[in-house]
Amino acid sequence: MRSTDHLATSRYARMRWNTPLSEEHAALLLRRLDVRPGARVLDLGCGWGELLLRAVAAGGVAGPVATRGVGVDTDEAALARGRALAAGRSLNRHVAFVMGEAAAWHEPADRVLCIGSAHAFGGTGAALDALAKVVRPGGRLLFGTAYWQRDPTAAAEQIFGADITDLAGLVETTRERGWRMLHVSTADQREWDDFESTWLAGRQEWLLTYPQDPRAAQVRAELDDRLRQYVGDYRGVVGLAYLVLGH
Ligand SMILES: C[S@@+](CC[C@H](N)C(=O)[O-])C[C@H]1O[C@@H](n2cnc3c(N)ncnc32)[C@H](O)[C@@H]1O
Repeated sequence: MRSTDHLATSRYARMRWNTPLSEEHAALLLRRLDVRPGARVLDLGCGWGELLLRAVAAGGVAGPVATRGVGVDTDEAALARGRALAAGRSLNRHVAFVMGEAAAWHEPADRVLCIGSAHAFGGTGAALDALAKVVRPGGRLLFGTAYWQRDPTAAAEQIFGADITDLAGLVETTRERGWRMLHVSTADQREWDDFESTWLAGRQEWLLTYPQDPRAAQVRAELDDRLRQYVGDYRGVVGLAYLVLGH
């Protein structure tokens, strides 16, 4: 395999999922999502779908009515990783990974996940409105989205945009749009540090292995910028809220 391929595969290699989330926190969210046997589960902006696969497994695929899942994303490499994960857990007949725009998906489901992907709908409010149309009545949405933990610096606002509110504002936005809150929790500092560290680690390891690669200087500069921004501009400023919502 050429070093080009190594760079592509190393980017997210150290991440379990592409969001600040511990194993314990993920298990709690899946319990609150309460996937029932035979449910249809949809993940919009699924990445490689680790949570989707766990949600489908939680619903169960062995009984008379198997739980089924669909993950939608625009990143073909992430989707390929999801398909390989599904095959490794014998879930490939139960979970489909589809290349496409999250906002263009209209087939409803009983349980919908949308984590770190609100921007694909044009922001948090627009995402909550669009997702109300794909969550079946009586269904549940696991929504993961950014909020300000502290007043943002100008630099943080430039990175994350002006659409974000504080947690109280986010909760109010869900209420105004007709959702009922079944669960709220936020990523803690260690989850964020682990997220940023694992995001960096795959690429740092590539850099340390292939320092002579023609792209090494550019990758080094990107990683240095990201780490500088994290510790200087948004660590402890931007948070990630996980909401389980019903309607
Ligand atoms: C922060 S990642 C979160 C991935 C996943 N939900 C998880 O928790 O691991 C955001 C994902 O949204 C996807 N994405 C961005 N724009 C999209 C769009 N317009 N339609 C579908 N997916 C999109 C990206 O490819 C990426 O996989």
